[in-house]
Amino acid sequence: MLVLGGGSDLALATVRRLVADRCRTVVLAARRPHELKPVAEELRDAGADTVETVAFDAADTASHATVVGDVFDRHGDIDAVIVAFGVLGDQAAFDRDPAAAADAATVNYVGAVSSSLAVADRLRSQGHGVLVVLSSVAGVRVRSDNFVYGSTKAGLDGFAQGLGDALVGSGARVMIVRPGFVHSKMTEGKEPAPFATTPEAVADALAEGLRKGSAVVWVPPVLRLVFGVLRNLPRPLWRKVAAR
Ligand SMILES: NC(=O)c1ccc[n+]([C@@H]2O[C@H](COP(=O)([O-])OP(=O)(O)OC[C@H]3O[C@@H](n4cnc5c(N)ncnc54)[C@H](OP(=O)(O)O)[C@@H]3O)[C@@H](O)[C@H]2O)c1
Repeated sequence: MLVLGGGSDLALATVRRLVADRCRTVVLAARRPHELKPVAEELRDAGADTVETVAFDAADTASHATVVGDVFDRHGDIDAVIVAFGVLGDQAAFDRDPAAAADAATVNYVGAVSSSLAVADRLRSQGHGVLVVLSSVAGVRVRSDNFVYGSTKAGLDGFAQGLGDALVGSGARVMIVRPGFVHSKMTEGKEPAPFATTPEAVADALAEGLRKGSAVVWVPPVLRLVFGVLRNLPRPLWRKVAAR
């Protein structure tokens, strides 16, 4: 498997889980791959045969086809690719610094578009494999207190749905994962939202989704129902609910 954003807490919990389930080849792609050497060692100790770390910057879209292509060329068939990179940022800081907001949007949306298309091209050619996209409930109904982040996830989710539809019949597919609040580096120090969960719970749900061939995975599952209601609330009511 290939992980784009290989240092992500959610992705690493998932990789640990999949290696325990007998995944044998792991490529972790990250901005500072050398920092992932201890994790690579840990995964080898856990039973992975091959663990590689490669350089990948989501903002450097021009490099994506080459980075992804090199991994597929080196390892042959890749069964699963996880798009796990992302930045949360701070809405108040974005309000003061529009360029920083654009940088976050570039990573979360633009970088995901180019890297996912590079992956889809290779999955189509090999005729099988799944692209797992870490979306978020933040994109299902965008809140005013983090609307830059939420809008990038809304865009990413729409992109992933469209790509999944476009891949039907190719043998390759897309699985969208929509977690709520997860305790990770990204949310450190933030007040947990209702139904807050852990990277391990995301890993379990993701592994189960892979096993079942799910198109969309909500973590925890109750959020599918919660957001089924929230996404249809009239906006004045949504503003009150969202202003926790
Ligand atoms: N935690 C949550 O509550 C939550 C909920 C829903 C969805 N998600 C989504 O799940 C994914 C993983 O989040 P997480 O909780 O695991 O957060 P995390 O531990 O902070 O992981 C995010 C990863 O993105 C990487 N990244 C940031 N900018 C990058 C760039 N330009 N190029 C390459 N990698 C870059 C970071 O690497 P560096 O070390 O280089 O910064 C980091 O490893 C994200 O897409 C996030 O939006 C998270």
